[in-house]
Formats: sequence, structure tokens, C-alpha cells
Amino acid sequence: MTGQFIVFEGIDGCGKTTQLRRLQRWLTQPNWPLGMLQPPCHIVATKEPGATQLGQALRQLLLTPNETEVMDPTAELLLYAADRAQHVACQLKPELEAGAWVLCDRYEDSTWAYQGLGRGLDLSLIEQLNCIATGGLQADLTLWMDLDPELTQQRLRDRGAADRMEQAEDAFHQRVRQGFSQLAERYGDRLVRIDADGDEDTVARRIQQAVSHWASQTLKSEA
Ligand code: TYD
Repeated sequence: MTGQFIVFEGIDGCGKTTQLRRLQRWLTQPNWPLGMLQPPCHIVATKEPGATQLGQALRQLLLTPNETEVMDPTAELLLYAADRAQHVACQLKPELEAGAWVLCDRYEDSTWAYQGLGRGLDLSLIEQLNCIATGGLQADLTLWMDLDPELTQQRLRDRGAADRMEQAEDAFHQRVRQGFSQLAERYGDRLVRIDADGDEDTVARRIQQAVSHWASQTLKSEA
């Protein structure tokens, strides 16, 4: 792989989609901001679930509320894994092999936090399934946008109708946050916590600092 793979993670309503777009803009400005690293041929934004044609159908199944039948947590886990396998094969690997920088809204850590800590599924099983779905493709940098679920509730209400996952009770979102926190302790080398409490510009600056720091470390390790 010659590209770089940067993932945004966090609970629903933490602002990662907005910040991903801002990072993409920052990286594509005329003055390349990471002077020490070579600029990539192109920078692409993508997301899970739903980046591929198959993924769009799976996203619909996963997020549309259904009052007549509760989705089994294992079925949910397998649908997210199927979306990821397709995404890796059809988009992520080809883009990275072509030298692109890929900014991805959610990846395997979401499965660990949501289906593992949130739904309470077996964590070693999730690790195995993540390995199968990703084919071993890991993020070079994961930006975990950390915000208290109590603060995201208002944002979600302002957005309108909640999707199936957002409808989960508050305790679920607290467990998901704990899941990301555990991952940050375990994978501190690639997973950076970003304080997502602040206005958009402040949070964007924190992310730019984290990316600049990561870029300088990456350069050192490649030297
Ligand atoms: P997202 O696209 O971030 O939601 P939105 O567009 O509404 O901001 O993510 C969709 C939902 O899917 C989100 O609630 C998190 C959940 N999810 C999982 O539970 N497991 C996973 O592996 C992934 C990728 C997402």
C-alpha cells in the first residue's frame, strides 16, 4: 500500500462527518499543509456503512427503523461486516494501492464499540470477523472524536428523525463511548483522542494538529 488511510470514529452526533469534510478541504488547499510529507495524487472521502452499491442496500437495511421485527444483534454484526468486506475490496484497497489518501467515516473500531460494547457481543468473535472483513487492512491513523452522549442528544434531536441505531437508549451510547475509550488505551499508536467539545473551528484546529503530529512521526519512522 502506498496511500494513507485516515479514519474518523465517534458516537452518533459527535460531528465527525463535518470534520472529515473540513480535513479534506484543509488537505486539498493550494498550499499543502504537511510540508514534510509528499502530497498524495488525490484525497478521497468515503464512509461505512454504504460506500458501495451493495453497501447502500445494506445501509438501508441497517438504519431504517422497523417496528414489526427487531434485528438480531448477530445479524446486525454480519451486515456491517459484509458492508466492510465489499468496501475494502471495491474501494479502499484499490484507492490506497493507487497512492490516494483515504478519509473514511467509520471503520472496524465502530464494530468493536457498537456491536461489542454496545450490544454485548463476544469481543474475540468481533476481532476475528473484523480480520476477515478487512483482509488485514488497518487504518494508519484513527481520529476518535470524543464527546459525552449527553451533549450529542440535542444535536441528534435538531437533525430530525433518528435512524435505527440512534434510537438506542442513552446507556447504549455510553457503552459505545467506553468502547472507543478502551480502544484508545489499547491502540494509542494509531488511535488519537480528539476532544470534540467545542465550536467547529476549534475542533478542526485540534484535528489539524493531530494530523500534523502524526505526519511528522510517520516521516521519522520512514527515514
Ligand atoms: P453514520 O453513517 O455515522 O450515521 P449518520 O450518517 O447518521 O451520522 O453511521 C451509521 C450508524 O451505524 C451509526 O449509528 C453507527 C453504526 N455502526 C455500527 O453500529 N457498526 C459499524 O461497524 C459501523 C460502521 C457503524
